[in-house]
Amino acid sequence: MASLGVNIDHIANVRQARHAAEPDPVSYALLAELGGADGITVHLREDRRHIQDRDVERLRASVRSRLNLEMAATAEMEAIALRIRPDMVTLVPERRQEVTTEGGLDVASQREALCGLVGRLQDAAISVSLFVDAEPHQLEACAATGARWVELHTGGYCEASWAKQPEALARLSEGSFIARSLGLRVNAGHGLTYQNVEPVAAIEGMEELNIGHTIVARALAVGLEQAVRQMKALVQNPRRDPLFGSIHP
Ligand code: PXP
Repeated sequence: MASLGVNIDHIANVRQARHAAEPDPVSYALLAELGGADGITVHLREDRRHIQDRDVERLRASVRSRLNLEMAATAEMEAIALRIRPDMVTLVPERRQEVTTEGGLDVASQREALCGLVGRLQDAAISVSLFVDAEPHQLEACAATGARWVELHTGGYCEASWAKQPEALARLSEGSFIARSLGLRVNAGHGLTYQNVEPVAAIEGMEELNIGHTIVARALAVGLEQAVRQMKALVQNPRRDPLFGSIHP
């Protein structure tokens, strides 16, 4: 059964729209935990467009589940992670102009550099996950860095047309299988919604889904605690949609 990491970046987006004090992502992290979040995820971007350094410090002190810090593989972010010590760091690619993380990290082309960073974070007892597309050569490169976790990029599946979704889902399922045969543990996320999450949650070996935008959007109508509760029910007990056929390779 997969668990649920709730990404609260969009709470900070509302605050930063006015450079005001509210809404406070730390208070909302608590509400997400009350709704059953198994972890809280934030992305400290280099441009600090939503989550701020102070948020991460305060979250470290108050999150009672697990704190997952998404960050770029830079010296600045490494120093922050080593100081704040989240439970997990998820390394993501980052471009200033992007609206959100667009693709998976190209681990294959920067394996050597990532080996050092992964090792230093793991030596500090921080779990490291690499956000990658479910491609065999990227997964092999992830294993070669010494990281123990990957987060499979679900954006392709979420954006695929209805006709192409089974194929995209099969790629994720195959990715989970390959990752696990390389000794990696598997999370997934990006673009998941209440409508499309169940087949991904049902993939064999899926440990945690990181979900943000759709939960914060629903929270406007029903409150964050209830929005998390509703998502957690889908993640924990997904229907195996006959449309998707067999989801195991
Ligand atoms: N996982 C990663 C690595 C991400 O970068 C994001 C977006 O910040 C998410 C999960 C959550 O994506 P969404 O907000 O679309 O649920």
